[in-house]
Amino acid sequence: MIKLWTIALVVTFVSPSFGNHHQLNPVHPSSEPSKAFRETRSIFSSEYYCWTQWFDRDDPSGTGDWETLSDLLKQYPNEICPNPVDVEATTLSGTPAKQTGEVFYKYDKTSGFVCRNEDQKQGMCSDYRVRFSCPSAYCSEKVCWTEWFDRDNPSGTGDWELLSNLTTENPGKICETPQYIQAKAKSLLASFIGDNIYIYNPTQGFVCRNEDQTFKKCWDYEVRFGCC
Ligand SMILES: *[C@@H]1O[C@H](CO)[C@@H](O)[C@H](O)[C@H]1NC(C)=O
Repeated sequence: MIKLWTIALVVTFVSPSFGNHHQLNPVHPSSEPSKAFRETRSIFSSEYYCWTQWFDRDDPSGTGDWETLSDLLKQYPNEICPNPVDVEATTLSGTPAKQTGEVFYKYDKTSGFVCRNEDQKQGMCSDYRVRFSCPSAYCSEKVCWTEWFDRDNPSGTGDWELLSNLTTENPGKICETPQYIQAKAKSLLASFIGDNIYIYNPTQGFVCRNEDQTFKKCWDYEVRFGCC
């Protein structure tokens, strides 16, 4: 009974035109949605995800390096999805943003990436590039998939299906640098669910944290990787 009720609730999170809305708030337009509700993304089980190409639309010579999703969408309307599930920024030479020691004004899948010169000790940001994890419409078409893996369940802090762990635990079964990832909820009759996903990209894998959910519990997921 509780499960059915939860599924019904979850279904209300799902916008009929996935991919075109920044906010999913179809049910009670008059009430102020909670943060968790607003950030909820619907994850279709048939959907898989890949990284876009790298984008570098700005350099730090002005007020900083502005690689916002809204600007990038204007400039590259067909190459980035409107609602990415993940974002990654590195310097042009490939150093992960979080390893540079610089302070970021924005770095999330909704805003994209902004490094402001005024926030830096040395007065200037590095030049960064960004990429986004997007649904299959933005990926190339032929994918060879691994089998499905399910190494964790959400009884602890969440469901952790990291590529690093899966590679260690399943030697020889996953390629070194997957290009695609697909996750789906296990033992669920509904084909989609509305958890707020923490990590979902082909480089790191998939993580759903219980703390990010309205009801403090993720579904149990399985993942597979696309290796060509
Ligand atoms: C899973 O991977 C993370 C980081 O890649 C590591 O810290 C952790 O110890 C691994 N867990 C297991 C059970 O191997």
